Amino acid sequence: MTVLAEQVRRRRTFAIISHPDAGKTTLTEKLLLYGGAIHLAGSVKARRAARHATSDWMQMEQERGISVTSSVLQFEYQGKAINLLDTPGHADFSEDTYRTLIAADSAVMLLDNRKGVEERTRQLFEVCHRRRTPIFTFVNKCDRPGADPLQLLDDVERDLGLRCYPVMWPITAGDRLIGVYDRGERQIHLFEKGEDHGQTRVATQAGELDDPSVRALIGDEAHDKLLADIELLDMAGEEFDYDAFLAGEVSPTFFGSAMTNFGVEPFLRKFLELAPAPTPREATTGEVKPEDPNFTGFVFKIQANMDPKHRDRIAFVRVCSGHFEAGMQVKHVRTGKQVRLAAPTQFLARERTHIEEAWAGDVIGIHDRGNLRIGDTLSSNGDLEFQGIPRFSPEHFARILIRDPMRRKQLDTGLQQLSEEGAAQVFYAESIVGPAPIVGAVGQLQFDVLLHRLENEYGVSARLEPLSYHHARWVEGPEADVRRVATEGYGRTMVFDSKERPLILFDSEWTMKTTIEREKDLKFHDVAP
Ligand code: G4P
Repeated sequence: MTVLAEQVRRRRTFAIISHPDAGKTTLTEKLLLYGGAIHLAGSVKARRAARHATSDWMQMEQERGISVTSSVLQFEYQGKAINLLDTPGHADFSEDTYRTLIAADSAVMLLDNRKGVEERTRQLFEVCHRRRTPIFTFVNKCDRPGADPLQLLDDVERDLGLRCYPVMWPITAGDRLIGVYDRGERQIHLFEKGEDHGQTRVATQAGELDDPSVRALIGDEAHDKLLADIELLDMAGEEFDYDAFLAGEVSPTFFGSAMTNFGVEPFLRKFLELAPAPTPREATTGEVKPEDPNFTGFVFKIQANMDPKHRDRIAFVRVCSGHFEAGMQVKHVRTGKQVRLAAPTQFLARERTHIEEAWAGDVIGIHDRGNLRIGDTLSSNGDLEFQGIPRFSPEHFARILIRDPMRRKQLDTGLQQLSEEGAAQVFYAESIVGPAPIVGAVGQLQFDVLLHRLENEYGVSARLEPLSYHHARWVEGPEADVRRVATEGYGRTMVFDSKERPLILFDSEWTMKTTIEREKDLKFHDVAP
């Protein structure tokens, strides 16, 4: 096997999808603990402190700074090189969060054991589902009583259409967690509530299910319940179908507690075994295999520097094939120019380190002076381009008003460039030259960044007038019909995106759903068609 193939095979690039407070920060911290990056705990704490920060500038700087350094966490465990892509969640939830998922090869869906699937989980799941990304499920917070696990998994299936295959099963006596049972290995792991919030690696004890000493150990009540549960699961039947997992249809499911560090290590082991190594990606020339020796990659996220003295930005590139070496010349396919990728950055825990090399599956951060855009391909293999990154439907809309009408031209230029870069989306009520443009964003923080950058980079002082729409769909069909649908009744309006494609904005999910159901002749899309 070539060195490249060897390196590809040991890579696992994934993201965690969850609703705020399900425990993503805590789980990340524990995963890093196994990767030997123990000092990290401090920086994860710092993020947690920044997490609820409102976006005033000082805090935003801090928050951004922190999220830059932790955009990708790379660590090693049992010979595998693991890239954990950070998916900003709280105040900094944005279109970037969705785009990051496109760079991942698999995802871990983290659920709170009392809440199951929540709104953000659902939204992030949809993005993975569309790409058929393999998904693991980790039911967290099992150290405290939660919903009935069978019920919970049933809800996941009904809500998301994703079948769960329990790899681990919780062992409980009344409200108390005793441990988890590993169905594949036929072993139990006992839960020990440590005193130190799981800062150390817990020792696990294991034993066969029908071993009398196991019954003695976990008690009659827990043992009876476990036997009954496992019988039920076994009866329900199917073996774990690996191909269905790879196609994103079946989700290997785990139970544990990130906070007390219980069930995390068995999960990580199984994750490394099942999660796919980097897979081929579709490009204009056909499939690009990661083992192809020519370097290729695409930009999935651009982080602007908030400091006006330093305009440089970091473009995050997912390496799709080949071996990357510092200083290498590659083609920026959209412009046809050769660019030298000097001093790229990789992110290990808190430190940004300059790297000399990277392999397919990795993410590198490239300093950029404004040439790169989201979705751009970098290639040392000719003019191939990877499939574009879709625009995701915004959830917040506002009219953007300038204080000085003489600056309209600068505003339009700024909006056009910032929207190409992916900072926000721009819409027009009628035509591009018409009244105030409308901006749309997935998260509120995107608006703050937008205003700040318009002022600092384009000299445009603007303010936002929020609109009461929260959903948008691109619509395919005769324009007259789209206009009719948008103007009859309340809670709807028609706008155009920068490519003059029509959308309808809706004030509520209900308005949207009923409209879509009624208008069978029109096609509605939640990402730009
Ligand atoms: P997030 O990044 O997904 O938003 O969640 P985060 O890890 O910050 O966790 C949210 C809250 O849930 C935290 O409590 C955290 O301690 C708690 N938590 C995480 N994992 C577990 C678990 O396995 N069991 C239990 N019982 N709780 C868990 P907090 O009170 O908001 O913060 P803190 O004071 O504990 O730091």
